[in-house]
Amino acid sequence: MNIFNFSQKPVDVPPVKTAYRCIQTALPVPQSLEVFERLNRFESRSMHGQMPIVWDRAKDFQVFDKWGNCWIDFTSTIFVSNAGHGNNHIIQSLKDLLDKDLLHTYTYASDVRADFLQKLIEKTPVEIEKAYLVSAGTEATEAALKLIRLYAQDKNKKRPGVIAFDGSYHGRTMGAAQISANQAQREWMGYEDPNIFHLPFPYPWDEEGNPTNEDGNIRFEKDVENLRSQGVDLKEDIGGIIFESYIGWAAAFFPTKYVQAWAACAKENDFLISFDEIQSGFARTGPLFAYQHYDIKPDIICCGKGISSSLPLAAVLGRADILDLPDIGSMSSTHSANPLSCAAGLANLQEIERLSLVEESTNKGKILHGRLNEMRQRHPREISNILGAGMLASLIFRNSRSVSSACLLASQICEKAMRKGILLVHTGRESIKIGPPLTIPEDALVEGLDVLDEILQESIQ
Ligand SMILES: Cc1ncc(COP(=O)(O)O)c(C=O)c1O
Repeated sequence: MNIFNFSQKPVDVPPVKTAYRCIQTALPVPQSLEVFERLNRFESRSMHGQMPIVWDRAKDFQVFDKWGNCWIDFTSTIFVSNAGHGNNHIIQSLKDLLDKDLLHTYTYASDVRADFLQKLIEKTPVEIEKAYLVSAGTEATEAALKLIRLYAQDKNKKRPGVIAFDGSYHGRTMGAAQISANQAQREWMGYEDPNIFHLPFPYPWDEEGNPTNEDGNIRFEKDVENLRSQGVDLKEDIGGIIFESYIGWAAAFFPTKYVQAWAACAKENDFLISFDEIQSGFARTGPLFAYQHYDIKPDIICCGKGISSSLPLAAVLGRADILDLPDIGSMSSTHSANPLSCAAGLANLQEIERLSLVEESTNKGKILHGRLNEMRQRHPREISNILGAGMLASLIFRNSRSVSSACLLASQICEKAMRKGILLVHTGRESIKIGPPLTIPEDALVEGLDVLDEILQESIQ
């Protein structure tokens, strides 16, 4: 295998049969190969590179194929199914709407959209007054960027400057890719937005960014100096700063004091603070939103993924004076108010409440992080960090020879886990991420962690 290419050649693997996992065929399943062949033939390859499983059904914390195999899911389909796959209440809400024959309304009003928006705003902290709904996270990022720039215009700033961070990811559309840090992923555009300023992310392994010491402030001062040296005047040239609540690939949070220093600076210089909660929202890290770990009040929040635990839905939330900056009709989308997505979003919020998923995430997160830290202690040379919070965790691998060896080890561990009935988040980098549905029972969580422990022992000599 290489880092992005899991083998599609069937391999005989030892059978697994427990209450929660079943592996009883070669993997990939020989009969499933024709599905991959058709996808390889008819779909752009940019969508490929995932582990070779054909999903037939997913319920709560388990994923099933057609051939009797069943996995414990530690991915929530990339942090979407926070309230569990195929959540019964969400499915029932969708069925109720389907029975009424309401599949699409464009931007015409519907009860379900009003109900969802009201519930969403009621659930969020008081400073959040309005929302704008879209279908994908990247669209939420685009909208946040637009709001920041309209704000800069409204305040007669000289430039529509936006501060963002290296290492971050905000989506694949043009504005989102300009803010995201991966320069290689921006090359196709043929230009760099001169008013987007990237700062280095203060990783915990970067001494100055160490979240456990006082240096958040020192790092902040250094970054302000860095911007000034590029001719940036924070008051005149900056409309907003966009944080990913934690850097996705590593689940690394910013030092708290660093974020707080930027929040104070934003107030002083009248620019907006926007948090990308697309991956981190809806109780993934414990609180409803991950920015709450920093004890600050953002002006804009972007949400997606776990907002519905299912159908395509994303949102931009914020103060009314910001959300109302665009004129009637100038920030809208054909599918942004889709009634089915709104029904899923509403039912999802009801489930987060009914199942106490904020508390569940915090409590089960203690088990998750406790076990991972024990694993790290057994492999201190190979695992440099366990990061994340609540039901989000990452293992960061290191290899004294090369970063690519660490990336390969992470990919091999994901493949081995798949063969033993566990799905882990494959990042393509020197990390593995874990984010089970928040509804997973404790014994299933522990079973999955036991398997990971076993794989680490096998894979690290
Ligand atoms: C932090 C973050 N922002 C934005 C996005 C883009 O969301 P989408 O894939 O729904 O466009 C993602 C997706 O992985 C994400 O993790």
